Amino acid sequence: MNDTATMGAPSLFWEAVSEGRWGQYISAIEGDMIRFAQEQLGEPSTALEIGAEGGRWSKLLADSGWQMTCTEIDPEALAVCQQRIPTSRCVLVDIDSQAFPCETDSQKLVLAIEVHELVEQDWFVNELNRVLQDGGIFVGVFQNKHSWRAIMNLKSKINGTMQQYTAGFLPWKQKITALGFEILREEGICWMPFGRMSDSALVPIATQLERALGLRKWTTVSPWIVFAAKKKAASPRMR
Ligand SMILES: C[S@@+](CC[C@H](N)C(=O)[O-])C[C@H]1O[C@@H](n2cnc3c(N)ncnc32)[C@H](O)[C@@H]1O
Repeated sequence: MNDTATMGAPSLFWEAVSEGRWGQYISAIEGDMIRFAQEQLGEPSTALEIGAEGGRWSKLLADSGWQMTCTEIDPEALAVCQQRIPTSRCVLVDIDSQAFPCETDSQKLVLAIEVHELVEQDWFVNELNRVLQDGGIFVGVFQNKHSWRAIMNLKSKINGTMQQYTAGFLPWKQKITALGFEILREEGICWMPFGRMSDSALVPIATQLERALGLRKWTTVSPWIVFAAKKKAASPRMR
């Protein structure tokens, strides 16, 4: 167990990123969406978080009475999560795993916050459909290929790093809608040209402008979309 886990102090990479001004802006919208889903669902029940890292979102839910299952590929981050949320079931998963460690129809809420590379994949949607109960809600974050930020892929090609922004939000939304999901709420964010680690003093004014211009409604072409999708009724498994 590392120092972070033993001291309980957050020094996890993505948690630190979320503390910069750009990170705070994104986190505020993610947190609002999770609280919105909680309000919709009423009494706390079972929830699964995919890619929980140190459990900043799982802890929010656990503190409200939710019984959490948390997955991670990073064992050190998962140890922190387990220490912070002793009641949670923390499961270390393989990076190539294509199954959630939960029974069919067992979860009322599923989160995948900034686990961008997974959400758009067919197996992920299939598993989501399998483990969520009817009336359950999925809160996720999507990086949209149909946005100006997809230009990042040129940089990734040149550098040989992993591509992001590889799927369009509208086709993905149509796919999950066909499976019986309904988008309850969506916010199109990250329009302004700041990097993920930015702590620029201009972030608050720029993001207020994003809101004032009504850009958050334009989810079809938004760089990131934070959304809550409800599984309305039993639906066929995706092939
Ligand atoms: C950008 S971080 C977000 C962490 C957390 N959801 C949050 O919002 O603070 C993405 C996390 O997903 C984890 N991850 C990546 N692929 C995963 C997978 N296949 N299953 C579970 N976790 C995964 C990474 O190790 C990382 O901690």
